[in-house]
Amino acid sequence: MEFVEHVFVLAHLLGMAAVVGSAVFVARGRATPALVWGARAQLVTGLILVGLAEMGEDPVNHAKVGVKLVVAVAVAACAEIAAAKARKGEGERPQLVQAAGWLAVLNTAIATLWH
Ligand code: HEM
Repeated sequence: MEFVEHVFVLAHLLGMAAVVGSAVFVARGRATPALVWGARAQLVTGLILVGLAEMGEDPVNHAKVGVKLVVAVAVAACAEIAAAKARKGEGERPQLVQAAGWLAVLNTAIATLWH
């Protein structure tokens, strides 16, 4: 079970890398597939990690999980809206893409600094 949990942590970290890497460091202003799929992956892998943590013995920090969930939904919303506008030929939405990237950085800070 511990190995399964580590595999989902790996997937969670790769999702974070896709969102932050794409939005903040590489494709500035453009809603890439890596950004959109990374944002979706964070919601799925994050919720699975919470489920696995609930099965363990250590207490789960529900306040932290709740805040991360709200931020991750905002990340996904920004990415989805920017990608949909671009797909419909309504132009790029660089502010939304930047917001998704920096909110993901915020969630990374919450994940690592809130103890
Ligand atoms: C943009 C969205 C997100 C980002 C960038 C993000 C980032 C991270 C990072 C970097 C870690 C590793 C921290 C460490 O090992 O010290 C982590 C762990 C974790 N995240 Fe997220 N996260 C996001 C969304 C979520 C969501 C939506 C949930 C659940 C509601 C969640 C639940 C967790 C849990 C339970 C862990 C602990 C894994 C463990 O060490 O056992 N995350 N997250």
